[in-house]
Amino acid sequence: MSDFADRYGPWALVAGASDGVGSAMAEELARRGLNVVLLARRQEVLDEVAAGITAHTGAQTRTLAIDLAAPAAAGEVIAATEDLEIGFLVYCAGADPNFQPFLSSPLSDAESLVQRNCLVPMQLCHHYAQPMVERGRGGIVIFGSGAGFAGGPNMVAYGASKAFDMVFAEALWTELQPSGVDVLGLILGKTDTPALRKLEHERGQIPSPEDAPPGAAAVDDVVAAAFANLTEGPTCLVGPEIQAAAQLMASVSRNDAVRFIAQAVTSAMGAN
Ligand SMILES: NC(=O)c1ccc[n+]([C@@H]2O[C@H](COP(=O)([O-])OP(=O)(O)OC[C@H]3O[C@@H](n4cnc5c(N)ncnc54)[C@H](OP(=O)(O)O)[C@@H]3O)[C@@H](O)[C@H]2O)c1
Repeated sequence: MSDFADRYGPWALVAGASDGVGSAMAEELARRGLNVVLLARRQEVLDEVAAGITAHTGAQTRTLAIDLAAPAAAGEVIAATEDLEIGFLVYCAGADPNFQPFLSSPLSDAESLVQRNCLVPMQLCHHYAQPMVERGRGGIVIFGSGAGFAGGPNMVAYGASKAFDMVFAEALWTELQPSGVDVLGLILGKTDTPALRKLEHERGQIPSPEDAPPGAAAVDDVVAAAFANLTEGPTCLVGPEIQAAAQLMASVSRNDAVRFIAQAVTSAMGAN
């Protein structure tokens, strides 16, 4: 086994592995010598990703078609991996496909988002981190967003869930890092994923889902940042835009930060 597989193997679990940055994370983990459990909702897409990973790397794969917004999701994931030693957990699934005002959507949309973005990653970390601590090695990467820096319109539950993810990863790092388990909260700005292309196309911001959203970071750059910073937790701000946004937010009062985000969202929507 490689040093990487010694430290983080033999299996990784990637939640949100059917496309975009999650599937690229899974491929890179396999390239580094880990077998991967690929989890998302679309079985046929997971099968394609799994076949590609095995063809490119020879790694073993297992696919789990599970909706992480469903109430029993964490239990299903845990049961389906009971026979595997999971040394690395990536929680990527998390974007908001709607970007709508809080009161214009049913409450169940917000509840599902909190279930998928807060409860399930917490439940999975509680389960998989314990044996990692006992082994004295392992890794956990949780995806956050600049939307978690301060509140803004059309992302009431989403932004709040991403603030949870960021602080959860930071806090978990403080407890697990002395045991040899690396925790990283990966904070993304706009990133060129299929989910973002779909959203921007639906909002008329790009002419077709084949087009890259202007100003979006490349998936490969996000994956490179994740692996370069695995041991540099608790938080990694990916790319110059999100680093500048974090600096700006830190330089003004919280109230002004919220006003700034509200204005930025309103003018972006008005530009459509
Ligand atoms: N893209 C951006 O601009 C951006 C910006 C800031 C932060 N982020 C963060 O980066 C992460 C990845 O975002 P993304 O743009 O790739 O979109 P995403 O919608 O989070 O999609 C990523 C993966 O998650 C899976 N997924 C989504 N909902 C799921 C559910 N309920 N159950 C199981 N799997 C589910 C998707 O596959 P299936 O459809 O097959 O289930 C896909 O494989 C998220 O945490 C997001 O908050 C993204």
